[in-house]
Amino acid sequence: MSLRLAIILPTYNERKNLRPLVAKLDAALKGIEWEAVIVDDNSPDGTADEARAISLDDPRVRVIERIGRRGLASAAIEGMCATAAPMVAVMDADHQHDPALLPQMLAALESGDYDVAYGSRFAEGASAAGLSSKGREKGSQLANKLARKVTGMELSDPMSGYFMLPARILRADAHRLSGVGFKILLDILATVEGPLRVKELPLTFAQRAEGESKLDRTVVFEFLIGLYDKWLGRIIPTRFALFGTIGAAGVVVHMAVLTTVLRLNGGDGFVFGRWITEFDVGQSIAAVVAMTFNFVLNNALTYADKRLAGFGPLMRGWLRFAVTCSVGMLSNIGVAAILVRSGFHPYPSAIVGIVIGSVWNYALSSRFVWGKYK
Ligand code: GDD
Ligand code: MN
Repeated sequence: MSLRLAIILPTYNERKNLRPLVAKLDAALKGIEWEAVIVDDNSPDGTADEARAISLDDPRVRVIERIGRRGLASAAIEGMCATAAPMVAVMDADHQHDPALLPQMLAALESGDYDVAYGSRFAEGASAAGLSSKGREKGSQLANKLARKVTGMELSDPMSGYFMLPARILRADAHRLSGVGFKILLDILATVEGPLRVKELPLTFAQRAEGESKLDRTVVFEFLIGLYDKWLGRIIPTRFALFGTIGAAGVVVHMAVLTTVLRLNGGDGFVFGRWITEFDVGQSIAAVVAMTFNFVLNNALTYADKRLAGFGPLMRGWLRFAVTCSVGMLSNIGVAAILVRSGFHPYPSAIVGIVIGSVWNYALSSRFVWGKYK
Protein backbone atom coordinates (compact mmCIF):
# COMPACT_ATOMS: atom_id res chain seq x y z
CA MET A 1 0.00 0.00 0.00
CA SER A 2 1.38 3.38 -0.80
CA LEU A 3 0.95 6.72 0.85
CA ARG A 4 -2.39 8.33 -0.03
CA LEU A 5 -2.76 11.34 2.20
CA ALA A 6 -0.66 13.83 4.14
CA ILE A 7 -2.24 15.94 6.83
CA ILE A 8 -0.37 19.17 7.37
CA LEU A 9 -0.61 20.50 10.89
CA PRO A 10 0.81 24.00 11.30
CA THR A 11 1.48 24.53 14.97
CA TYR A 12 2.34 27.33 17.30
CA ASN A 13 2.09 26.45 20.99
CA GLU A 14 -0.03 23.34 20.56
CA ARG A 15 2.05 20.90 22.62
CA LYS A 16 -0.81 19.46 24.64
CA ASN A 17 -3.07 19.10 21.60
CA LEU A 18 -0.74 16.93 19.53
CA ARG A 19 -0.90 13.46 21.04
CA PRO A 20 -4.71 13.35 21.29
CA LEU A 21 -4.92 14.70 17.75
CA VAL A 22 -2.67 11.99 16.32
CA ALA A 23 -4.84 9.43 18.12
CA LYS A 24 -7.94 10.93 16.49
CA LEU A 25 -6.29 10.89 13.06
CA ASP A 26 -5.37 7.26 13.56
CA ALA A 27 -8.96 6.42 14.45
CA ALA A 28 -10.49 8.45 11.63
CA LEU A 29 -8.15 7.18 8.90
CA LYS A 30 -8.36 3.43 9.37
CA GLY A 31 -7.51 1.65 6.12
CA ILE A 32 -5.87 4.74 4.59
CA GLU A 33 -2.10 5.14 4.32
CA TRP A 34 -1.43 8.56 5.75
CA GLU A 35 1.24 10.70 7.29
CA ALA A 36 1.06 13.86 9.33
CA VAL A 37 3.52 16.72 8.81
CA ILE A 38 3.74 18.98 11.81
CA VAL A 39 5.16 22.35 10.82
CA ASP A 40 6.13 24.15 13.97
CA ASP A 41 7.60 27.63 14.19
CA ASN A 42 9.89 26.91 17.11
CA SER A 43 7.04 27.32 19.60
CA PRO A 44 8.18 28.40 23.06
CA ASP A 45 6.00 25.72 24.68
CA GLY A 46 8.10 22.93 23.16
CA THR A 47 5.59 21.74 20.56
CA ALA A 48 8.39 20.59 18.24
CA ASP A 49 9.99 18.44 20.96
CA GLU A 50 6.64 16.85 21.66
CA ALA A 51 6.15 16.29 17.93
CA ARG A 52 9.53 14.55 17.69
CA ALA A 53 8.68 12.42 20.72
CA ILE A 54 5.44 11.35 19.02
CA SER A 55 7.32 10.68 15.80
CA LEU A 56 9.68 8.29 17.58
CA ASP A 57 6.65 6.17 18.55
CA ASP A 58 4.81 6.66 15.28
CA PRO A 59 6.94 7.35 12.20
CA ARG A 60 3.85 8.41 10.25
CA VAL A 61 4.27 11.66 12.12
CA ARG A 62 6.97 13.92 10.71
CA VAL A 63 8.26 17.22 11.94
CA ILE A 64 9.43 20.39 10.28
CA GLU A 65 10.72 22.92 12.74
CA ARG A 66 11.27 26.38 11.35
CA ILE A 67 13.57 28.74 13.21
CA GLY A 68 13.02 32.48 13.15
CA ARG A 69 9.91 32.21 11.00
CA ARG A 70 6.23 32.72 11.74
CA GLY A 71 3.07 32.34 9.77
CA LEU A 72 0.25 29.89 9.31
CA ALA A 73 0.01 30.22 5.52
CA SER A 74 3.70 29.77 4.83
CA ALA A 75 3.84 26.84 7.28
CA ALA A 76 0.94 25.16 5.48
CA ILE A 77 2.55 25.69 2.06
CA GLU A 78 5.91 24.34 3.19
CA GLY A 79 4.25 21.33 4.76
CA MET A 80 2.28 20.59 1.59
CA CYS A 81 5.49 20.76 -0.43
CA ALA A 82 7.32 18.46 1.97
CA THR A 83 5.37 15.28 1.35
CA ALA A 84 5.23 12.69 -1.40
CA ALA A 85 1.57 11.96 -0.71
CA PRO A 86 -0.67 12.62 -3.72
CA MET A 87 -3.33 14.29 -1.56
CA VAL A 88 -2.64 16.96 1.04
CA ALA A 89 -4.88 18.33 3.75
CA VAL A 90 -4.39 21.26 6.09
CA MET A 91 -6.07 21.43 9.47
CA ASP A 92 -5.83 23.25 12.79
CA ALA A 93 -3.95 21.25 15.40
CA ASP A 94 -6.27 22.43 18.18
CA HIS A 95 -9.14 19.96 17.60
CA GLN A 96 -11.42 22.57 16.05
CA HIS A 97 -11.50 20.60 12.81
CA ASP A 98 -13.17 17.21 12.98
CA PRO A 99 -10.85 14.53 11.48
CA ALA A 100 -13.94 12.48 10.60
CA LEU A 101 -14.31 14.67 7.50
CA LEU A 102 -10.93 13.60 6.12
CA PRO A 103 -12.08 10.27 4.58
CA GLN A 104 -15.03 12.07 2.96
CA MET A 105 -12.76 14.72 1.51
CA LEU A 106 -10.38 12.04 0.27
CA ALA A 107 -13.20 10.08 -1.35
CA ALA A 108 -14.50 13.21 -3.10
CA LEU A 109 -11.07 13.99 -4.54
CA GLU A 110 -10.10 10.43 -5.44
CA SER A 111 -13.36 10.03 -7.34
CA GLY A 112 -11.97 12.62 -9.74
CA ASP A 113 -15.13 14.70 -9.50
CA TYR A 114 -13.57 17.45 -7.43
CA ASP A 115 -10.32 19.43 -7.27
CA VAL A 116 -10.66 20.77 -3.74
CA ALA A 117 -12.63 19.60 -0.71
CA TYR A 118 -13.07 21.62 2.43
CA GLY A 119 -14.88 21.82 5.74
CA SER A 120 -17.33 24.71 5.85
CA ARG A 121 -18.53 26.28 9.08
CA PHE A 122 -21.46 27.89 7.29
CA ALA A 123 -22.80 25.18 4.98
CA GLU A 124 -26.17 23.50 5.51
CA GLY A 125 -25.86 21.33 8.55
CA ALA A 126 -22.65 22.96 9.80
CA SER A 127 -22.11 24.82 13.01
CA ALA A 128 -19.72 27.66 13.79
CA ALA A 129 -20.24 27.36 17.53
CA GLY A 130 -16.49 27.28 18.09
CA LEU A 131 -15.91 30.81 16.80
CA SER A 132 -14.60 32.62 19.81
CA SER A 133 -16.95 35.62 19.64
CA LYS A 134 -20.04 36.99 17.96
CA GLY A 135 -17.86 39.69 16.41
CA ARG A 136 -15.64 37.07 14.92
CA GLU A 137 -18.61 35.21 13.49
CA LYS A 138 -19.90 38.41 11.87
CA GLY A 139 -16.41 39.17 10.58
CA SER A 140 -16.12 35.71 9.07
CA GLN A 141 -19.43 36.08 7.28
CA LEU A 142 -18.58 39.50 5.88
CA ALA A 143 -15.20 38.27 4.72
CA ASN A 144 -16.91 35.34 3.08
CA LYS A 145 -19.26 37.61 1.17
CA LEU A 146 -16.33 39.60 -0.18
CA ALA A 147 -14.44 36.43 -0.99
CA ARG A 148 -17.31 35.17 -3.08
CA LYS A 149 -17.06 38.31 -5.17
CA VAL A 150 -13.33 37.84 -5.73
CA THR A 151 -13.16 34.16 -6.49
CA GLY A 152 -16.46 34.23 -8.35
CA MET A 153 -17.28 31.03 -6.55
CA GLU A 154 -20.28 30.24 -4.46
CA LEU A 155 -18.60 28.93 -1.35
CA SER A 156 -20.18 29.23 2.03
CA ASP A 157 -16.83 29.49 3.85
CA PRO A 158 -13.78 30.35 1.71
CA MET A 159 -11.93 31.51 4.84
CA SER A 160 -11.95 28.00 6.21
CA GLY A 161 -8.63 26.63 7.38
CA TYR A 162 -9.62 22.99 6.83
CA PHE A 163 -9.25 21.65 3.30
CA MET A 164 -7.72 19.00 1.05
CA LEU A 165 -6.49 18.99 -2.53
CA PRO A 166 -4.21 17.02 -4.86
CA ALA A 167 -0.61 17.93 -4.08
CA ARG A 168 0.17 18.48 -7.76
CA ILE A 169 -2.42 21.29 -8.02
CA LEU A 170 -0.90 22.96 -5.00
CA ARG A 171 2.68 22.54 -6.16
CA ALA A 172 1.95 23.81 -9.66
CA ASP A 173 1.04 27.19 -8.22
CA ALA A 174 2.87 27.20 -4.91
CA HIS A 175 5.35 29.81 -6.12
CA ARG A 176 2.49 32.22 -6.84
CA LEU A 177 0.79 31.95 -3.45
CA SER A 178 1.27 34.89 -1.17
CA GLY A 179 2.03 32.94 1.99
CA VAL A 180 1.08 35.94 4.12
CA GLY A 181 -1.53 35.70 6.86
CA PHE A 182 -3.97 32.86 7.21
CA LYS A 183 -6.42 32.86 4.33
CA ILE A 184 -4.62 30.05 2.63
CA LEU A 185 -7.61 28.30 1.04
CA LEU A 186 -8.85 31.59 -0.37
CA ASP A 187 -5.36 32.28 -1.65
CA ILE A 188 -5.30 28.93 -3.44
CA LEU A 189 -8.77 29.42 -4.93
CA ALA A 190 -7.89 32.89 -6.18
CA THR A 191 -4.48 31.87 -7.52
CA VAL A 192 -5.00 28.57 -9.32
CA GLU A 193 -6.04 29.14 -12.93
CA GLY A 194 -9.21 27.68 -14.24
CA PRO A 195 -12.37 26.86 -12.35
CA LEU A 196 -11.81 24.45 -9.50
CA ARG A 197 -14.53 21.99 -8.67
CA VAL A 198 -15.03 22.41 -4.96
CA LYS A 199 -16.64 19.93 -2.62
CA GLU A 200 -18.09 21.51 0.49
CA LEU A 201 -18.58 19.43 3.63
CA PRO A 202 -20.48 20.78 6.61
CA LEU A 203 -18.15 21.14 9.56
CA THR A 204 -19.06 21.35 13.20
CA PHE A 205 -16.45 23.87 14.20
CA ALA A 206 -15.53 22.92 17.74
CA GLN A 207 -13.99 25.02 20.48
CA ARG A 208 -10.24 24.72 20.52
CA ALA A 209 -9.08 22.12 23.04
CA GLU A 210 -5.99 23.55 24.74
CA GLY A 211 -4.30 26.92 24.46
CA GLU A 212 -5.50 30.01 22.66
CA SER A 213 -6.07 31.28 19.12
CA LYS A 214 -3.11 32.98 17.46
CA LEU A 215 -5.16 34.65 14.79
CA ASP A 216 -6.25 37.75 16.60
CA ARG A 217 -6.09 40.06 13.63
CA THR A 218 -9.67 40.30 12.51
CA VAL A 219 -10.64 38.16 9.55
CA VAL A 220 -11.82 41.26 7.75
CA PHE A 221 -8.49 43.00 8.11
CA GLU A 222 -6.73 39.83 7.05
CA PHE A 223 -9.03 39.61 4.10
CA LEU A 224 -8.41 43.17 2.94
CA ILE A 225 -4.71 42.46 3.15
CA GLY A 226 -5.30 39.39 1.02
CA LEU A 227 -7.16 41.41 -1.61
CA TYR A 228 -4.43 44.00 -1.76
CA ASP A 229 -1.87 41.27 -2.00
CA LYS A 230 -3.56 39.73 -5.03
CA TRP A 231 -4.11 42.99 -6.86
CA LEU A 232 -1.13 45.18 -6.13
CA GLY A 233 1.11 43.00 -4.01
CA ARG A 234 3.43 42.24 -6.90
CA ILE A 235 4.15 45.89 -7.56
CA ILE A 236 4.43 47.10 -3.99
CA PRO A 237 4.77 44.25 -1.48
CA THR A 238 1.92 44.05 1.01
CA ARG A 239 4.03 44.47 4.09
CA PHE A 240 5.79 47.48 2.67
CA ALA A 241 2.44 49.05 1.73
CA LEU A 242 1.24 48.60 5.30
CA PHE A 243 4.50 49.91 6.66
CA GLY A 244 4.28 52.94 4.38
CA THR A 245 0.65 53.65 5.22
CA ILE A 246 1.41 53.50 8.92
CA GLY A 247 4.43 55.72 8.30
CA ALA A 248 2.19 58.29 6.60
CA ALA A 249 -0.18 58.18 9.58
CA GLY A 250 2.93 58.72 11.72
CA VAL A 251 3.62 61.97 9.88
CA VAL A 252 0.14 63.19 10.82
CA VAL A 253 0.76 62.24 14.45
CA HIS A 254 4.09 64.04 14.33
CA MET A 255 2.50 67.25 13.08
CA ALA A 256 -0.29 67.08 15.64
CA VAL A 257 2.16 66.66 18.52
CA LEU A 258 4.43 69.40 17.21
CA THR A 259 1.51 71.81 16.89
CA THR A 260 0.32 70.97 20.39
CA VAL A 261 3.74 71.57 21.93
CA LEU A 262 4.14 74.91 20.13
CA ARG A 263 0.66 76.04 21.18
CA LEU A 264 1.10 74.98 24.80
CA ASN A 265 4.31 76.87 25.05
CA GLY A 266 2.63 80.08 23.99
CA GLY A 267 4.98 80.67 21.08
CA ASP A 268 7.51 82.88 22.85
CA GLY A 269 10.28 81.22 20.97
CA PHE A 270 12.82 79.94 23.44
CA VAL A 271 12.80 77.31 26.07
CA PHE A 272 16.34 76.71 27.22
CA GLY A 273 18.24 79.91 26.60
CA ARG A 274 19.43 80.63 23.11
CA TRP A 275 20.53 77.22 21.89
CA ILE A 276 17.44 75.09 22.23
CA THR A 277 14.26 76.52 20.76
CA GLU A 278 10.74 75.41 21.49
CA PHE A 279 10.66 74.11 17.95
CA ASP A 280 13.58 71.78 18.76
CA VAL A 281 11.77 70.49 21.81
CA GLY A 282 8.47 70.07 19.97
CA GLN A 283 10.16 68.40 17.03
CA SER A 284 11.96 65.94 19.31
CA ILE A 285 8.87 65.04 21.33
CA ALA A 286 6.86 64.68 18.12
CA ALA A 287 9.52 62.45 16.57
CA VAL A 288 9.60 60.14 19.58
CA VAL A 289 5.79 59.96 19.81
CA ALA A 290 5.38 59.35 16.07
CA MET A 291 8.13 56.74 16.10
CA THR A 292 6.47 54.95 19.03
CA PHE A 293 3.10 55.16 17.29
CA ASN A 294 4.64 53.57 14.20
CA PHE A 295 6.33 50.89 16.24
CA VAL A 296 3.11 49.93 18.03
CA LEU A 297 1.02 49.81 14.85
CA ASN A 298 3.61 47.93 12.85
CA ASN A 299 3.95 45.45 15.66
CA ALA A 300 0.18 44.97 15.80
CA LEU A 301 -0.56 44.90 12.06
CA THR A 302 2.38 44.77 9.66
CA TYR A 303 4.16 42.14 11.71
CA ALA A 304 1.16 40.62 13.46
CA ASP A 305 2.51 37.20 12.56
CA LYS A 306 5.84 37.95 14.25
CA ARG A 307 4.47 40.21 16.95
CA LEU A 308 6.75 41.09 19.85
CA ALA A 309 5.09 40.60 23.21
CA GLY A 310 6.13 41.07 26.82
CA PHE A 311 7.91 44.00 28.39
CA GLY A 312 11.49 42.99 27.56
CA PRO A 313 11.00 42.12 23.89
CA LEU A 314 8.84 45.21 23.37
CA MET A 315 11.43 47.55 24.90
CA ARG A 316 14.25 45.95 22.91
CA GLY A 317 12.15 46.10 19.75
CA TRP A 318 11.28 49.74 20.37
CA LEU A 319 14.93 50.66 20.88
CA ARG A 320 15.96 48.80 17.74
CA PHE A 321 13.18 50.50 15.84
CA ALA A 322 14.41 53.87 17.11
CA VAL A 323 17.96 53.16 15.94
CA THR A 324 16.71 51.86 12.59
CA CYS A 325 14.57 54.95 12.05
CA SER A 326 17.41 57.33 12.81
CA VAL A 327 19.53 55.63 10.17
CA GLY A 328 16.59 55.89 7.78
CA MET A 329 16.22 59.57 8.57
CA LEU A 330 19.92 60.23 7.94
CA SER A 331 19.74 58.54 4.55
CA ASN A 332 16.55 60.44 3.79
CA ILE A 333 18.16 63.81 4.58
CA GLY A 334 21.42 62.85 2.92
CA VAL A 335 19.89 61.80 -0.38
CA ALA A 336 17.58 64.83 -0.51
CA ALA A 337 20.49 67.17 0.25
CA ILE A 338 22.59 65.69 -2.54
CA LEU A 339 19.71 66.03 -5.00
CA VAL A 340 19.03 69.65 -4.09
CA ARG A 341 22.72 70.47 -4.39
CA SER A 342 22.76 68.93 -7.85
CA GLY A 343 20.03 71.29 -8.93
CA PHE A 344 16.80 69.36 -8.36
CA HIS A 345 13.72 71.10 -7.04
CA PRO A 346 13.39 70.73 -3.25
CA TYR A 347 9.97 69.01 -3.24
CA PRO A 348 10.73 66.08 -5.53
CA SER A 349 14.08 65.77 -3.77
CA ALA A 350 12.29 65.59 -0.43
CA ILE A 351 9.98 62.89 -1.78
CA VAL A 352 12.87 60.82 -3.11
CA GLY A 353 14.52 61.20 0.31
CA ILE A 354 11.35 60.06 2.07
CA VAL A 355 10.93 57.05 -0.20
CA ILE A 356 14.55 56.00 0.23
CA GLY A 357 14.34 56.54 3.99
CA SER A 358 11.17 54.41 4.21
CA VAL A 359 12.58 51.59 2.11
CA TRP A 360 15.62 51.65 4.33
CA ASN A 361 13.53 51.67 7.54
CA TYR A 362 11.43 48.85 6.21
CA ALA A 363 14.34 46.70 5.12
CA LEU A 364 16.27 47.23 8.33
CA SER A 365 13.38 46.91 10.75
CA SER A 366 11.95 43.81 9.14
CA ARG A 367 15.38 42.28 9.63
CA PHE A 368 16.48 43.67 12.99
CA VAL A 369 13.24 44.41 14.82
CA TRP A 370 10.85 41.70 13.64
CA GLY A 371 13.25 39.48 11.76
CA LYS A 372 15.17 36.45 12.77
CA TYR A 373 18.09 36.22 15.16
CA LYS A 374 16.52 38.70 17.51
N1 GDD B 1 3.56 27.03 12.13
C1 GDD B 1 2.67 27.95 12.53
N2 GDD B 1 3.06 29.26 12.55
N3 GDD B 1 1.43 27.60 12.90
C2 GDD B 1 0.58 28.56 13.30
C3 GDD B 1 0.91 29.91 13.36
C4 GDD B 1 2.24 30.27 12.96
O1 GDD B 1 2.64 31.43 12.97
N4 GDD B 1 -0.15 30.62 13.79
C5 GDD B 1 -1.13 29.72 14.02
N5 GDD B 1 -0.69 28.47 13.74
C6 GDD B 1 -1.41 27.20 13.84
C7 GDD B 1 -2.09 27.00 15.17
O2 GDD B 1 -1.25 26.38 16.11
C8 GDD B 1 -3.27 26.11 14.77
O3 GDD B 1 -2.88 24.76 14.70
C9 GDD B 1 -3.60 26.61 13.37
O4 GDD B 1 -2.42 27.23 12.86
C10 GDD B 1 -4.75 27.62 13.34
O5 GDD B 1 -4.48 28.64 14.27
P1 GDD B 1 -5.56 29.05 15.37
O6 GDD B 1 -4.90 29.97 16.31
O7 GDD B 1 -6.21 27.83 15.93
O8 GDD B 1 -6.58 29.83 14.44
P2 GDD B 1 -8.14 30.07 14.64
O9 GDD B 1 -8.80 28.81 15.08
O10 GDD B 1 -8.33 31.29 15.45
O11 GDD B 1 -8.59 30.41 13.12
C11 GDD B 1 -9.31 29.47 12.35
O12 GDD B 1 -10.25 30.14 11.55
C12 GDD B 1 -9.70 30.89 10.46
C13 GDD B 1 -10.81 31.56 9.71
O13 GDD B 1 -11.60 32.32 10.53
C14 GDD B 1 -8.34 28.61 11.52
O14 GDD B 1 -9.05 27.48 11.07
C15 GDD B 1 -7.79 29.33 10.34
O15 GDD B 1 -7.10 28.38 9.53
C16 GDD B 1 -8.93 29.98 9.55
O16 GDD B 1 -8.43 30.69 8.44
MN1 MN C 1 -8.05 26.99 15.67
